[in-house]
Amino acid sequence: MKIEFRDEPLAQLASSALVAFAFEGSPASNGTVGRLPADTQGLLPEMHSAGELTGKAFECTLIHLPAGIAASKLLIVGAGKREKFSERQLRHVVGTAVRNLRARGVRDLAWILGEAEPRTVQAVVEGALLADYDADRYRTERNGEKRIDRFELATGGEALPSEAKDALERGRIIAEAQNFTRDLVNEPSNRMTPTLLAACAEAMAVRCGLVCQVLGPAEIQALKMGAFWAVAQGSEEPARLIVVSYLPDGAPEQPVVGLVGKGITFDTGGISIKPSENMHEMKTDMAGGATMLGVMQVVAQLKPRIRVIALVPATENMPSGKAYKPGDVITSMSGKTIEILNTDAEGRLVLGDALTYAKQLGCTVLIDAATLTGAVAIALGNITTGVFGWNQDWVNRVLAAARVAGEKMWQLPVDDDYRELYKSTIADLANTGGRHGGAITAAMFVGEFAGDTPWVHLDIAGTRWANEEKPYRAKGPTGHGVRTLVELLTNLSA
Ligand code: BES
Ligand code: MN
Ligand code: ZN
Repeated sequence: MKIEFRDEPLAQLASSALVAFAFEGSPASNGTVGRLPADTQGLLPEMHSAGELTGKAFECTLIHLPAGIAASKLLIVGAGKREKFSERQLRHVVGTAVRNLRARGVRDLAWILGEAEPRTVQAVVEGALLADYDADRYRTERNGEKRIDRFELATGGEALPSEAKDALERGRIIAEAQNFTRDLVNEPSNRMTPTLLAACAEAMAVRCGLVCQVLGPAEIQALKMGAFWAVAQGSEEPARLIVVSYLPDGAPEQPVVGLVGKGITFDTGGISIKPSENMHEMKTDMAGGATMLGVMQVVAQLKPRIRVIALVPATENMPSGKAYKPGDVITSMSGKTIEILNTDAEGRLVLGDALTYAKQLGCTVLIDAATLTGAVAIALGNITTGVFGWNQDWVNRVLAAARVAGEKMWQLPVDDDYRELYKSTIADLANTGGRHGGAITAAMFVGEFAGDTPWVHLDIAGTRWANEEKPYRAKGPTGHGVRTLVELLTNLSA
């Protein structure tokens, strides 16, 4: 999708479709419809009184050959109540226009910019690119072939602030990376093996000028990553530890941010095997890892002055004659011993060793993203990511970044009183804490390996995947978390 500013008078733009939005209530001058030429605005009251143009969120009203403008179609998208309008809603309204028009075969459109504030421009660009995504690359007849080729931001001739061009570029970089994450998550596990995930990370690193190091089974064992290896040993697919670094000259020595992403390319549950219903969804169990790779792609392009290292422990979790078993006791890289009570609680094991290694590499702040528990989706649904951590200052920074990025996140507690739930009678820790408070005990188990280093955990098991289509978004992988972490790193570098 080509994205560019246009500064002709709106009446003269000869795009296939001009798009305006209207808030709920009387449409005239209420929203960007107020910027349309008078003749064109004159068409609206009649439609409004006929009940066709209400401004309700995501309502689409299409007018062919509208009076007063050169564009062959005018699309008016409802933006809902003015009081509830936000950047997040703006992204969705833009996205609705993109998905609605491309379904009609339109390939170029002009979006009327309400204001050319940098954040507005960024949100519009993100909304357009995120909506123009479909997880259908294995369909012979792809929706994706009905794409928008050209997306114009129409200023109507109003002067652009100098930062507007950068904002367009920033929105494009971020949304393309989020779509890259979605592509990785969507890939089925017969293709997306640990080896392919590492190859994708390497290709991204080469493309963007980052350093990527990939460790294999011998190196993982040599580092004494007993917890990661316990999970990996049951699979025929060789495990990979992916490390992508961005250490720009001249950035402050500290912080060094470690981004650790769960990279289970398929989670059968192992010997504690999962029921077959919905097991196919476990191809997405590397979404945390994919999120961190998306963030690194942005970092490489936006070049914030901050040191960042992403680590993705990647393996399948399989049952086999070599698989780890309930009752096994393993020794993690940190030296802590772990009694395995359920081989399906594998995420916390691979993350624990990756966090230990991140500290060894010099990370001074740790953030992990993981499809860690079904329990978090029971608590927060598909809508909101669970946020955990002992260091309230860092949790607050993440929550603040999430608000700005328009991703819903909510803090759940960590508390010493939960600790006894994952005590083992024969080892330092047990790898499950039972069903009650499952998202909390899983998070705290991971946090045991962060130790005193500030750490925030994002449980994206619910938010990684959209179960239903929205007017502005395809069903499928969401890339949730990428924008929040980019916002956080940007804030830290400022
Ligand atoms: N990958 C799953 C969590 C998950 C569930 C992700 C649903 C996405 C959707 C994780 O490895 C897992 O199996 N967790 C168990 C933990 C339990 C055995 C303590 C769970 O949530 O049931
Ligand atoms: Mn599991
Ligand atoms: Zn898992």
